[in-house]
Amino acid sequence: MKTILITGGAGFIGSHVVRRFVRNHPDTRIVNLDALTYAGNLENLVDVQDAPNYHFAKVDIRDAAAIEACFAQYQPDAIIHLAAESHVDRSITDPMAFVETNVNGTVNLLNAAKALWADQMEGKRFYHISTDEVFGALGAEGFFTEETAYSPNSPYSASKASSDHFVRAYHETYGLPVVISNCSNNYGPNHFPEKLIPLMIHNILEGKPLPIYGDGKYTRDWLYVEDHAAAIETVFLKGQNGETYCIGGWNEWQNIDLVRLLCDLMDARLEKPVGTSQGLITFVKDRPGHDLRYAIDATKIHRELGWKPAETFETGLAKTIDWYLANAAWLKSVTSGTYQAYYDAQYASA
Ligand code: NAD
Ligand code: DAU
Repeated sequence: MKTILITGGAGFIGSHVVRRFVRNHPDTRIVNLDALTYAGNLENLVDVQDAPNYHFAKVDIRDAAAIEACFAQYQPDAIIHLAAESHVDRSITDPMAFVETNVNGTVNLLNAAKALWADQMEGKRFYHISTDEVFGALGAEGFFTEETAYSPNSPYSASKASSDHFVRAYHETYGLPVVISNCSNNYGPNHFPEKLIPLMIHNILEGKPLPIYGDGKYTRDWLYVEDHAAAIETVFLKGQNGETYCIGGWNEWQNIDLVRLLCDLMDARLEKPVGTSQGLITFVKDRPGHDLRYAIDATKIHRELGWKPAETFETGLAKTIDWYLANAAWLKSVTSGTYQAYYDAQYASA
């Protein structure tokens, strides 16, 4: 039986990727390797946890010996690597955590794959999931493509850029069969409420202020998480070794317009007078080094591999809001414990 090891499978995007692979590839063993940090939650996978082809390994990618032991046990034929520290604001307060997991952790995985596949690289694949933030910031015009030069601005994006470079270097130096994709902002079910959309949904439900950094004119390109999971499956199955693929939603929104839309959609769902939630919008201190605009030109993956998003923003946001309203217990559970301390520290001086 073939084995695919997916790292970070208990997180937001990883859980959608694991579910997709468990369901679509019943004859393949899917191993979810995750350290279960604050962002990892096995509740995200209750619907597939009993599937015969699903396995879970609690491993920290900063621990090279633990990775080696896991690789020896499962002998993976392929790695899909999502495990990372993923929040820009946390990277500003604690950059070293991002170096340790995103850089060192990725190199630990590359070393383990190189050692395991030393005699036979044919048919193997190391797929690294990266971000459009490695390209830095766009002005009002233009798009990121596979040809855009790297210019990361935050400790998070610098750590992801570094990990991309290591993955590429292992291909050039050791012939490791690698592929990389760089995706824009995801949204959807299971998104941890430290990121813009789920944080706003959570605060609207709690009647708390909605903190908009700076003037709110920063722009992001939003993609529904299941569309990203589908793109990842497409790149995994059809992508070329040594290539990179940009993935995006063709769906740019300024933060303030997006939050206003979300407020109105939530008011309608909660049967409140339209305008109620917009009254919670509060402009706060800007994020240091805040990138003005991200936007992806996803022509290559569409033309070469046939992928395009299935959801519109209207259908994706409706599904997202429905999910959060139906999963109040999940939201309560992930915002208990250390969440409140993070929130107070992040927004105290705002
Ligand atoms: P997330 O923070 O929701 O999940 C990260 C997962 O990695 C968690 O399950 C966590 O427990 C695990 N993890 C963290 N440190 C670990 C360690 N040391 N060892 C093992 N597991 C560890 O992240 P996400 O938003 O789902 O992002 C997943 C990947 O996709 C990341 O590599 C991120 O850079 C990339 N990405 C995210 C987005 C986005 O919009 N969220 C867009 C493009 C790319
Ligand atoms: O572009 C892909 C990246 O998207 C991923 O690589 C990252 O892992 C992911 O976190 C995301 O990064 P962003 O920094 O773009 O996402 P975030 O949700 O943190 O912020 C989106 C925008 O909203 C950004 O311009 C900052 C702003 N913002 C965010 C928060 C949390 C606010 O105005 N207020 C907030 O409270």
